[in-house]
Amino acid sequence: MMIARTLEELRAAREALGPVGFVPTMGALHAGHISLVNAAKADGLPVAASIFVNPTQFGPSEDFSRYPRDEQGDLDKLEAAGCDLVWLPSVDVMYPPKAATSIHVGGPALKWEGASRPGHFSGVATVVAKLFGQVRPAAAYFGEKDWQQVQVVSRMVEDLELPLRIVPVPIAREASGLALSSRNAYLSAPEHKAAPALYAALVHAAGDILAGKEVAATLQNARHALAKAGMVPDYVALVHANTLEPLAGFARPARLIAAAKLGAVRLLDNVPVG
Ligand code: PAJ
Repeated sequence: MMIARTLEELRAAREALGPVGFVPTMGALHAGHISLVNAAKADGLPVAASIFVNPTQFGPSEDFSRYPRDEQGDLDKLEAAGCDLVWLPSVDVMYPPKAATSIHVGGPALKWEGASRPGHFSGVATVVAKLFGQVRPAAAYFGEKDWQQVQVVSRMVEDLELPLRIVPVPIAREASGLALSSRNAYLSAPEHKAAPALYAALVHAAGDILAGKEVAATLQNARHALAKAGMVPDYVALVHANTLEPLAGFARPARLIAAAKLGAVRLLDNVPVG
């Protein structure tokens, strides 16, 4: 596995590999990230992954400085998964002092995570566009765990006619149903036990909506279920799967999306409907 820490090293490694599948990450890797590497490998491409904890997508009161970091552990996991190249840029490479350009995102970026975390998707889009420019992948793999992020990145790639494919990859979950997340490391033991209630509420709500139950009442029930499990729901919504616009009644393609605070941890999940 090649490791590049400078743009020169990245260029040399990229020349050696030809077309690649790309898996951008912020590290603290778990089986969800590795499922993206596996998806790229299954497409028959050499795989490049990046690890960069991107400061511009964290809000001022968020966990940038204490975001979990484990470079050696991450490299071991990527090597074991058969990753071919890891790009480990520094903050100076990604954000040199003279940099003056960022990406403004509208449409699918405006609501939900975009509303709760102002500037977040602009930070994501800017760093992802820059990583695409550096790595020049044929395809990039994104987890459905961050459903809205996949839609924002897909819209950007289409709007800017960037020459790559975006491949969404299904959510990797614990046996309990809890979606794997680097931030699960912050959960206390009792919180970890309560956390699967988020997925359970979404699955239940998806069933109710498919059975013809009223959408508003179903979403309200889901919020109650989260509160009962000790969570503070941020949003639970039925949305158009691509535009992220709320749906008053069921129409395809639909996605149920939710965010809820459990103690200090913000949990995020989503399920398909139909
Ligand atoms: P990060 O949170 O490290 O996630 C990297 C990728 O792994 C994302 O595409 C995310 O959706 C995916 N992922 C996380 N948990 C997953 C799970 N349980 N199942 C499947 N995929 C999962 O998302 C980011 O980093 C950043 O915003 C980034 C795109 C790297 C830009 O900084």
